[in-house]
Amino acid sequence: MDIVSLADLKQAAKEKIPSDLWDFIEGAAFDEVTKQRNEEKFLDLTMNPNFLIDVGTRNLSTTVFGKKIDFPIMIAPAGGKRQLHPEGEIAAAKGAGMSGTLYALPTASGFSIEEVAEVASGPLWFQLYHSNDEITEFLVTKAKSAGYSAICLTVDGPTSAPKEKDLRNNFRRKPELYNGSFRERPEFARSTDIIVPDFSDFSPEEYQGLTWERLDWLKSLTNLPLVIKGIRTVRDALLCAEYGADGIVVSNHGGRQIDRTLSSIETLYPITQAVGENLEVYFDSGIRRGSDAFMALALGARGVFVGRPAFWGMAYQGAEGVKLMLDILKSEFDRCLAFCGYRNLSEIEIGSVNIPTHWPVNIP
Ligand SMILES: Cc1cc2nc3c(=O)[nH]c(=O)nc-3n(C[C@H](O)[C@H](O)[C@H](O)COP(=O)(O)O)c2cc1C
Repeated sequence: MDIVSLADLKQAAKEKIPSDLWDFIEGAAFDEVTKQRNEEKFLDLTMNPNFLIDVGTRNLSTTVFGKKIDFPIMIAPAGGKRQLHPEGEIAAAKGAGMSGTLYALPTASGFSIEEVAEVASGPLWFQLYHSNDEITEFLVTKAKSAGYSAICLTVDGPTSAPKEKDLRNNFRRKPELYNGSFRERPEFARSTDIIVPDFSDFSPEEYQGLTWERLDWLKSLTNLPLVIKGIRTVRDALLCAEYGADGIVVSNHGGRQIDRTLSSIETLYPITQAVGENLEVYFDSGIRRGSDAFMALALGARGVFVGRPAFWGMAYQGAEGVKLMLDILKSEFDRCLAFCGYRNLSEIEIGSVNIPTHWPVNIP
């Protein structure tokens, strides 16, 4: 079958991998309502094309904290890639680089921070799960010296939500494929094969929660930009600016944490309106078409990330499959730009998208 869309890639990937691994990737929290809503709500949005504008030459490039990427679609941090494919995070970084974009390496990587940096030809972020100050300091220092361009702190997991498919399948993670970040300090590794991981692996003496007031401490560890991932409300977005973050990712973790929230795209415009130019605002959860990415940019995002589609590409054909997935989205995005009468990203305006009147305008 020729792969012409991400839906084709998803189908091809599903046919290649064991069903419990498929469920692990596709699964979401509880009833998976938020995951479903993430994709459905994009269908509520519509574009307004404009014609008779010379759009013969288009430039999709942008910068992410000063680092250039060829188009504004990047790969979200997501653990488990090495369980899916022997090249795992290496393939994701290679695929992103080959396509001209950024890869965000998760804490739960099968390869080390340095191994991934060695193969990457595009910019990298390091995604951080904080649990303990000493471990965080170790990870942030390594990411900085390996050349990563930002620290992306994921905050939407004060606990984890059961993925009921994993429970039913008795799906087991292979810890050795998730602990690459801790190669030199195995005692710091916390990924286990348990189905619903939690911070219960830490004794109360070891676990040190992070709060708004302690972001100063995190920032004091490095001069890299700090991005906070998992923001769903205007309140939290404004607090990110107040407490000195440089950027945010408006994200609901692809519906994998708390269920029954708004879709991520419904929250985007109120957030970008509230924070203005104070933060670089990125977006993820539910992007499956270049038009989704285009509409997220019209609603004020500087760039977007995809999570599950990178797994589909990798299952299909390793790094080449990741590149294929990104190239499809890039080409679709480019067509939206042209149809709406724009030559570059700075021309994209809110008027190119219709927001349904029934969408919430005030998100606390
Ligand atoms: C299998 C899987 C593992 C993930 N692991 C992480 C992770 O370790 N850290 C993190 O910040 N987000 C993680 N995510 C969430 C992604 O970064 C991203 O927010 C989400 O996948 C976006 O939604 P989408 O899959 O609809 O594109 C994971 C997502 C999936 C599907």
